[in-house]
Amino acid sequence: MGDQTNPAKRVQQLKQLLESANIAYYVDDAPTISDAEYDAAMYELIQLEELHPNLKSPDSPTCRVGAPPATAFEPASHRVPMLSLDNAFNDEELRAFDGRVKRVLEMDAEAEIDYTVELKIDGLAMSLSYQNEQLISAVTRGDGSTGELITDNIRTVRAIPLALMGLPLPTFVEVRGEVYMSHQEFARINALREQNGEATFANPRNAAAGSVRQLDSRITADRRLSFFGYALGACEGMPQPTSQWQLLQILKTWGFPVNPHAKRLQGIEAVIAHCTEWAEKRDSLGYDIDGIVVKVNNLALQQQLGSVARSPRWAIAYKFPAQQVKTLVLDVKWQVGRTGAVTPVAVMESVNVGGVNVKSATLHNEDEIARKGVMIGDWVMIQRAGDVIPEVVSVLTDLRTGEEQPVIRPVQCPECGAEVERPEGETIARCVNLQCPAQVVERVIHFCSRDAMDIEGLGDKIPRMLFEQGLVKDPSDLYNLTMEQLLPLEGFKQKLAEKLSGAIQASKSVALNRLIFALGIRQVGQKAAQTLAKQFGSLDAFMLATEVQLLEVPDVGPATAKEIVEFFEREGNREVIRKLLEAGVNPEEMEANRSDALAGQTFVFTGALQSFTREKAEELVQQMGGKASGSVSKKTSHVVAGENAGSKLTKAQQLGVSVLTEQQFTELMREIGVEMVDEG
Ligand code: IVH
Repeated sequence: MGDQTNPAKRVQQLKQLLESANIAYYVDDAPTISDAEYDAAMYELIQLEELHPNLKSPDSPTCRVGAPPATAFEPASHRVPMLSLDNAFNDEELRAFDGRVKRVLEMDAEAEIDYTVELKIDGLAMSLSYQNEQLISAVTRGDGSTGELITDNIRTVRAIPLALMGLPLPTFVEVRGEVYMSHQEFARINALREQNGEATFANPRNAAAGSVRQLDSRITADRRLSFFGYALGACEGMPQPTSQWQLLQILKTWGFPVNPHAKRLQGIEAVIAHCTEWAEKRDSLGYDIDGIVVKVNNLALQQQLGSVARSPRWAIAYKFPAQQVKTLVLDVKWQVGRTGAVTPVAVMESVNVGGVNVKSATLHNEDEIARKGVMIGDWVMIQRAGDVIPEVVSVLTDLRTGEEQPVIRPVQCPECGAEVERPEGETIARCVNLQCPAQVVERVIHFCSRDAMDIEGLGDKIPRMLFEQGLVKDPSDLYNLTMEQLLPLEGFKQKLAEKLSGAIQASKSVALNRLIFALGIRQVGQKAAQTLAKQFGSLDAFMLATEVQLLEVPDVGPATAKEIVEFFEREGNREVIRKLLEAGVNPEEMEANRSDALAGQTFVFTGALQSFTREKAEELVQQMGGKASGSVSKKTSHVVAGENAGSKLTKAQQLGVSVLTEQQFTELMREIGVEMVDEG
C-alpha cells in the first residue's frame, strides 16, 4: 500500500504505476503486473479521484474506463491533411514506382533507394494531437481534411499514451497511426456477441471500426483495441526527424507501440523480395495486414517528391493478392433471402483461408454457375478478399472423375414450396410468395440490423426464434411483445428480456433514413434511403411520392422508382407501416433540402475532375433544382470541363455554350451556398 495520508502523492504513484504497466504490456510486450493488480490500482485511483476531484487530470488512466455517452461526434479538421496511398498489385508496379521516384529525383536508373518498409495494418487511421505532451484530441481520418472527434473513445485504448514520455518533446504534434483489433480480441468479442444473440462482426477491421465509433466510450473501453504509430502530421517546437526510420524511433520514445516488423531496405528488388515473403507469412501475425507500405526513408527526399492529388509520391502500398485455396464442393444449397431471391451457395469441405475457416461460398446466380461450370463434387479454387464473402473462382476440371452432378435450380421454393420465377432478362430467380417464412424472417432480421433500426441484441438468432414461436410475423409485432411472452423462451432470463424490450422501445425514435432502409424495399440501399429521406422529409411524403417525383431524386433510377411505388401499393406493406406508427415508431422528420437555386439550368460534366466525383457534382446540381445531362445541346446551360475533356467540350464551343473550369464550378456552387467537399 502506498502513502495513505497524502492523496496527491498517492494519485501520482498510481498514475505512474498504471501507465508504466500499459507501456510494458502494449509497447514492450513484457507485462510487469497481473490483471488483478492493474484492476486494483485502477479501482483505488477512481476512488481517490472521486474523493478529491481536483486531483483528476485529463491524462489520468481512469479516463481509460470511458466517459458517459455523447450525443454525436463533432467534426474536427487535421492541421496537416491525412493522405492516402497509391496501390501496387504486383512486382512490375513496384518497379514502376521505384522508377518514378528516381526520375523525379533525377537519379541514376541503377541507383538503389533507401526505403523503410512497414506492414500495412488493416485497421483505421487516426490522428492524435498532443499539446505540451498531453493528448488533447483524437480524430478519425474522415475525408483526409476533416474527421470526427473521438477523443473519449481513444483515451480508452491502453496502447495509446495519454501523455508523451521521452525526448525530444514537441510543443504540438499530430501522431498518426492505425487503431486495430487483434485476432484474439476479435474472437473474444464475437463469442460474447453470439452468446447475447447479437450480430457478430465480419472481421477485425469492422469490429474496430464499430468500437471506435461508439457514442458510449465505456463500450469502446470493453473492446480492448490496439494501436501502431507510423507517421507525423503537424509537428512544432522540436527539430523534424530526418528520416522515416528516425521518426519510428521517436514514436517509440514517446511511448507508442511501433510495429516490430518495420525494416530498412536498399533498392526495390530487396523490397519486392520482402513483399513476397510477407504475402506468404501474413497469417502468422495475431492481427490482419493487407499489404506492405513502402516509404522513401529520407525525409528531405520525401519533401522533394511531394504529392499528387491525395497521395504522396514517396510512398506506395503493395497489396497482397487475394488468397486462394483448393476445396471440394459437397453440395449446392439454395438460400432464400429477404427479397425472395433464391441464391445458390456451395457447401464445401471446410478449409482455412487467411485465418478464417470457410465452409460455404456464394455462387451468385445460375448464370455464374454456368459461366464457371461448377458441378457438385468438383474440386474448386475459392478465394476470400478482404471483407467479402468467399467465392468460387474456378473449377479444377482436371480432377473430375465423371461422378460430378450438375447444379439445377429448384422450380419450387426450398422453404415454402411456392413457385420460383426468373423473369426474362434477369439473373436472379425469386420465390413469388411474399409470405414465404424465409423471406418474412429475413425481413425482420434486416429491420433490426445495425444499419437499419439498430436494435441492440436482435441479431439473427432471436428474431428467428420469435418468428418460430409465432410471436413476430412482421416487424411491427416486435413493438407489442410483452415480458410474459419473452420470459418462457429458451435462454431468456429477466435481465435479457428487459434489455431487449428496452432496446426495442428505444428504437421507436429513429432517423427517417434508417426507417426507410429498414422497410427493405428492393433496390433501396442505405445510400438511397438517405437521399430519399432528405428529399421527402417525412414518411408520409415519401409514401405518397409518384414515380415521376421519385425519378427526380438523385441516384433513383426507373427500376428503383418502380420498386418503391409497387412496395407502397401493396396493402400488406401499408398495413405493417400503419402498425409500426400505431405502436409508436416515430421517424424524425427532416427538412426537405431541395432548393431551386439552379432551377431551369442544365449541366454537363466532362473530362477528369480532380476534387470531387462526377456523381457527387451531379447529385448536388439536382439537389439545387438543376438538371445534369450526359450530352451537350443548345439547351445546355454550362459544360464543366475537367482535364482531357474531349468531344463534349468541342461541341460546347461550337454551340457557344458556357464552359466552366472545375474551379469556376466550385465557386458558382459556393455562391449558392454549396461547399464542394473533397471526398477521400
Ligand atoms: S502511411 C502518407 N503506414 O493505409 C502516408 N499507412 O492506404 C499515409 N496504413 O490511411 C499512411 N499501415 O490507414 C502508412 N505502416 C503504415 C500503415 C498505413 C496501415 C493505412 C492507413 C492509411 C492507408 C493508406
